[in-house]
Amino acid sequence: MKAVQIHTYGGVNKLEIVDIEKPKPGKGQVLLQVYASSINPFDIVMREGYVQKMIPSLPVTLGSDVAGVVVKVGEGVDHLHVGEKVYGQAIVLAGGSGAFAEFAVTPVTSIAKMPENIGFNEAAAVVLTGVSAVQAICEHFNLQSGQKILIHGGAGGIGTIAIQMAKLIGAYVATTATGEGIDYVKKLGADMVIDYKSQEFDQLIFNYDAVFDTVGGQTYEKSFKVLKKDGIIVSMLAKPDKNVMEQYGVIAIAQATKVTTEHLDMLRNFITVENVTVHVDKVFPLDKIKKAFKAKETGDIKGKIAIEIK
Ligand SMILES: NC(=O)c1ccc[n+]([C@@H]2O[C@H](COP(=O)([O-])OP(=O)(O)OC[C@H]3O[C@@H](n4cnc5c(N)ncnc54)[C@H](OP(=O)(O)O)[C@@H]3O)[C@@H](O)[C@H]2O)c1
Repeated sequence: MKAVQIHTYGGVNKLEIVDIEKPKPGKGQVLLQVYASSINPFDIVMREGYVQKMIPSLPVTLGSDVAGVVVKVGEGVDHLHVGEKVYGQAIVLAGGSGAFAEFAVTPVTSIAKMPENIGFNEAAAVVLTGVSAVQAICEHFNLQSGQKILIHGGAGGIGTIAIQMAKLIGAYVATTATGEGIDYVKKLGADMVIDYKSQEFDQLIFNYDAVFDTVGGQTYEKSFKVLKKDGIIVSMLAKPDKNVMEQYGVIAIAQATKVTTEHLDMLRNFITVENVTVHVDKVFPLDKIKKAFKAKETGDIKGKIAIEIK
């Protein structure tokens, strides 16, 4: 089968399309025919070698988000059957064989039934971003109707889903974006859009219940000023500092997203029942993987890039 691997760490040119043996599902795993995957910032982090201590050896097949059809089940798997459409993750760091491939194995605990009202490209594109939004909005913030939330990076993968979820809950949503992203986040339902290139968000809004940080750095540091006492900031990148938390009287949480069947089921409900939409900006076939990564790393992508495999 075709797969995208790296033999050494580095830039886009390290990506190789190779012919390798189809993986076999072990205990508690399934073999999927992969119909689609998508690119996340973490795929770039892996390729560049920033998490090489977590990777047993090279070569390794890259890719996490996956949508496909079960073609074989391993020992002990009785609730999923051959022919079922599923979505989830197949990243090697969580016991999978890598999603940028024609077939992938992954633990059943990392997948769930695919939302029936969207296609494979959309399903793959919403896995990590959608689960990140579910975990932050529903669990860490436990966001309530009438609360005010600032969502940074509104036009990004996580931001596009988080804005829709927060609006469905009935929250007031401010978000940061720039350029074409401004109209884009307005269409998603954002109540207030702050241009992060020409405006200072921390001079414009105060007394917020929640800040969802998908950007990190100074954006994270300045966000504390926006929160009211006992407000919550969840960051996808920054680790909380106890002193800063005490100084502002707020709760800071560093989120490590867990792609589990339970979270994927919650996400499916938002998509099928609440009509949360997935925004695939560009689609590339597997053999154009280098082009796809270049587009992600240099292009102005709103929402997600999908990799169409079958
Ligand atoms: N901890 C975890 O478990 C976990 C899980 C998933 C993701 N993450 C991390 O979370 C981050 C976001 O993920 P994603 O998939 O949403 O990434 P993404 O699709 O690349 O989106 C990032 C968004 O941030 C915007 N942005 C850049 N600089 C900004 C600024 N100064 N102020 C406001 N917005 C800004 C970008 O807009 P432009 O297009 O204008 O540049 C882009 O729309 C990534 O760093 C990712 O690695 C962590």
